[in-house]
Amino acid sequence: MNTDARQQEQSVGVAPGWWTEAVIYQIYPRSFADSDGDGIGDLPGITARLGHLAELGVDAVWLSPFYPSPQADAGYDVADYRDVDPLFGSLADADRLIAEARAKGLKVIVDLVPNHTSSAHRWFRAAVAAAPGSPERARYIFRDGLGPDGAEPPNDWQSVFGGPAWTRLVEPDGRPGQWYLHLFDTAQPDLNWDNPEIRAEFLDVLRFWLDRGVDGFRVDVAHGLIKQADLANWEEPQEILSGNEADKPRPPMWDQDGVHEVYREWRRVLDSYDGDRILVAEAWVEPAERIARYVRPDEMHQAFNFEYLLAAWTAPAQYAVITRSLEATDAVGAPTTWVLSNHDVIRHASRLGLSAKGGRPNGIGIGDPQPDAALGLRRGRAATLLMLALPGSAYLYQGEELGLPEHTTLPDESRQDPTWERSGHTQRGRDGCRVPIPWEADAPSYGFGPADASWLPQPPLWAEYALDRQRGVPGSTYETYRTALRLRREHALGRGTLEWLSSGDEVLSFRNGGLTVLTNFGTAAVPPPDGDLLHSSAPLDADGRVPTDVTVWVRHS
Ligand code: GLC
Repeated sequence: MNTDARQQEQSVGVAPGWWTEAVIYQIYPRSFADSDGDGIGDLPGITARLGHLAELGVDAVWLSPFYPSPQADAGYDVADYRDVDPLFGSLADADRLIAEARAKGLKVIVDLVPNHTSSAHRWFRAAVAAAPGSPERARYIFRDGLGPDGAEPPNDWQSVFGGPAWTRLVEPDGRPGQWYLHLFDTAQPDLNWDNPEIRAEFLDVLRFWLDRGVDGFRVDVAHGLIKQADLANWEEPQEILSGNEADKPRPPMWDQDGVHEVYREWRRVLDSYDGDRILVAEAWVEPAERIARYVRPDEMHQAFNFEYLLAAWTAPAQYAVITRSLEATDAVGAPTTWVLSNHDVIRHASRLGLSAKGGRPNGIGIGDPQPDAALGLRRGRAATLLMLALPGSAYLYQGEELGLPEHTTLPDESRQDPTWERSGHTQRGRDGCRVPIPWEADAPSYGFGPADASWLPQPPLWAEYALDRQRGVPGSTYETYRTALRLRREHALGRGTLEWLSSGDEVLSFRNGGLTVLTNFGTAAVPPPDGDLLHSSAPLDADGRVPTDVTVWVRHS
């Protein structure tokens, strides 16, 4: 074991609130629980299953969008920001969910999608019907095309989902007309955040949900709202996971300084409400210092730490990203956040079982190299125990507490992610992490709902991951998560201080309060730290040593 002499003290230097140390569980409403048997999850289904989350021991839930939407991008194409899509229920169902969650001691965060609306939003319909130069068009980013007859798009930007980021309208008189910008699907036109009307509208949307009692917002594409004024060309292809590397010029559509003014205004609205209401940035921005700018004291409260999610499973890579993340957020007095899975990436129980090192494949399908399921789960559990021992706030994605893998053999004809079509079937997209989750091994759709089928087909192996097969079973992934969450709370790890003990090539270990945490990334088993073994991601070997790809939590004397 390399007992590296480097030691470091790092802490969460911020006034504690529930969110500074919270474990926040992401619910993807389409795939959590279906109450009415249409094969798509819904709000009453979620409300009925809140007991599971209370038992698991999380502090809050974040709900992906449930607003009226044509579902061109699974609800991230919002047609009305102040209502619930009948697919998911009604506003009354949302109120019941918020009230029930509160009764169970769970906070509720909703998703806000300000970068773009759906093309079915009344504003976009009005813009299409109105003339170029009209106030209706000024809510979006319309431009004349280039070339003698305007047949070329206004610039060369690519959409994140593939293909050009511009689509040409047919004007009301039937002639080809202006182009509109959509950084994502054609059905997701980008709003013009230089227009004060847009700013006022979203302040009102924030108030609408704050008045209904939500505890915060996860802000979709928070780094995209403001575009460089000249819409300068940018030849690089876009990817959903692309970060902006430090040594490259900043793309004209991402992370423009003007976004911060928007969040300062939002923060003032949240601060005018009672309780701690929070803003969480989804911003695929690197390096850590740039993302820290979103969580300065008068802006958002948290930002997802995608650099952490993307880090390779090696001791040096994990040490580096943890250290950098803590330093960057400490510098602005914000808590660090940690996340391993969400609805846009390959589930970490599969990602960590891929042999391609450091890659970030966008979807896995039949015919692609398949992950090693046992290795992925073993590493996935070790990664989770490492993450849950870090100071700050952590995000879990539904199903990871069951050790759920990615569905990597989903038939291509079932794919729903617009990425698949827009990339000309070259990028499989994100459906594999969005498959409805299994609750009961022997029930129709594994207890997801009363129907046999669900909107994405579940793989046959789902039964072994079902909650009822794991609940009360010592050593199951579910019980491993539950114990970790209980100990994390008992030992106040979320508000603790990290002190590195060892950061070599094979082993990472650190202290946080009364706990010593060790993860073995090497090939040989290593002795555990001195003290009482409280928890481990897998059993120790016959000699009481910590095997490869295992994390242990020890109470030191
Ligand atoms: C975010 C969401 C993703 C969505 C995109 C466009 O990245 O997490 O699911 O497709 O924004 O709204």
